[in-house]
Amino acid sequence: MADKPLRSQRSYGKLDRDGFIHRSWIKGTGLPEHVFDGRPIIGICNTWSELVTCQVHLRELAEFVKRGVWEAGGVPIEFPAMSLPETQMRPTAMLFRNLLAMEVEESIRANPIDGVVLLGGCDKTTPGQLMGAASVDLPTIVLSSGPQLNGKFRGRDIGSGTDVWRFSEMVRAGEMTLAEFISAEAGMSRSNGVCDTMGTASTMSTTIEAMGLCLPMNGSLPGADSRRKALAHMTGARIVELVRQDIRLSQLLTREAFENGILMHAACGGSTNAVVHLLALAGRVGVPLDLHDFDELAREVPLLVNLMPSGKYLMEEFCYAGGVPAVMRELGSLMRREAMTASGLTIGQIAEQAQVWNREVIGTREAPIGPSSGVWVLRGNLCPDGAIIKPSAATPALLTHRGRAVVFETIEDYHARIDDPDLAVDATSILVLKGCGPKGYPGMPEVGNMALPPKLLRDGVRDMVRISDARMSGTAYGTVILHVAPEAAAGGPLALVRTGDEIALDGPDRKLDLLVDEAELARRRAAWETARRPPAYSRGWYRLYIDTVLQADRGVDLDFLVGKSSADVTRESH
Ligand code: FES
Repeated sequence: MADKPLRSQRSYGKLDRDGFIHRSWIKGTGLPEHVFDGRPIIGICNTWSELVTCQVHLRELAEFVKRGVWEAGGVPIEFPAMSLPETQMRPTAMLFRNLLAMEVEESIRANPIDGVVLLGGCDKTTPGQLMGAASVDLPTIVLSSGPQLNGKFRGRDIGSGTDVWRFSEMVRAGEMTLAEFISAEAGMSRSNGVCDTMGTASTMSTTIEAMGLCLPMNGSLPGADSRRKALAHMTGARIVELVRQDIRLSQLLTREAFENGILMHAACGGSTNAVVHLLALAGRVGVPLDLHDFDELAREVPLLVNLMPSGKYLMEEFCYAGGVPAVMRELGSLMRREAMTASGLTIGQIAEQAQVWNREVIGTREAPIGPSSGVWVLRGNLCPDGAIIKPSAATPALLTHRGRAVVFETIEDYHARIDDPDLAVDATSILVLKGCGPKGYPGMPEVGNMALPPKLLRDGVRDMVRISDARMSGTAYGTVILHVAPEAAAGGPLALVRTGDEIALDGPDRKLDLLVDEAELARRRAAWETARRPPAYSRGWYRLYIDTVLQADRGVDLDFLVGKSSADVTRESH
């Protein structure tokens, strides 16, 4: 037991009027006198909601966390946090990641708890909860929703998101009827849990497992698997021990932990969204991390995991093949093996105990599933502060390409013209979409993998180079350049691109250039400045967000949220 008095005792341990008030109003929830004898109070921060299948089972899972907390001698107290259902929120769940982070940060800081279990799922909840918790820095552990069981349609497995994009293109190309398309919906999402592909939710849960922020197998055990309930129980027991040993989040969130996360991200062919989330999290704890770390660290890492969208299988098979510990074993000496984890074991100790059960799903470094699979970080006059592309999801022949831009000034402009049979576009064109960055949309939505023109789809074209300041779903694929920084709405060079301009992509050399001379660009910039209008939003969260959000290369956090405020609040409420 750490010598330090428990934080909760500052409220529940006082034998005066203030202590009466703190104890009485929580005894009203059904807690007996004897549990206020100095036991750790464990908050369970739960993003449960009925708005999406990813999080609908979290109330039940919380009950198993509570069993573990009680068993280990702690007192569990569950509290809610906004759920951020990825597929339901407009204009994009990403607009609210930082709002969740603020809610979690202040909920943890303001309440008399000693440690916290972050119980969540879906794309933005894991990073949002972790960012908030990191700025408080109490002992913290993550329990994720777990992935859905494999989607099913007409006798075969279908993947969340990945097959939506595929089916949608087939409908646009006249290869699938609308009735067939709609009949696939229920089979795709047929159980509780997050998307069953290596989309953003599973990317984040596997990445944070390699960062040591949860118990082993948290990243891949299905939401419907009874072993996830047992994992919840063990997670509840473990957080009590973390409090007793006063092991705080900042002791786990080291530079080595981030490096392990990036290595795992590359080995899994993880979502490009992890880049902004890890950058934002690093900013909260003050770990030096920049865009180039993702490219540099991943160069030696081949694709080891055969999961959609980069591969063939789904999260259920990944779990049965051994999950994250098995991949850590295959990564071997590349992993920072001494890094400590929330389990009390080092990364190296977890890897040593792991085994691979299916070589179709988890390859070796000598016989990988594919070549290097992290993200490439591009530079050039079109993206002075960087842009990214996921080569494992791209068409290899398009990774070095020159073409003429077909520009869409907004997402509405894109929707209005992309189906036009007279649109001047061919397979060599580069589709350019503006106004979809953090400030411009606002919220940086997942629209970067814009659908191709139907007339080209009918001709058999299945991929084109696409460039935007948007993100794309972790389940998506294609030769898609994302996160262009600065974004168009912030005056980045992307704002100056016009239809017909030539653009050169040299992926292997990490270059992205707009081939327009400087004098012409200066003229266009002057015209852009003159035409510039104030943001359309004058109040509320949107206004605060647009005024303070950082660009993609800084993780899209709000500028005043970077860093920590600590867990200390000295003043009483009454
Ligand atoms: Fe929630 Fe994919 S929609 S994880």
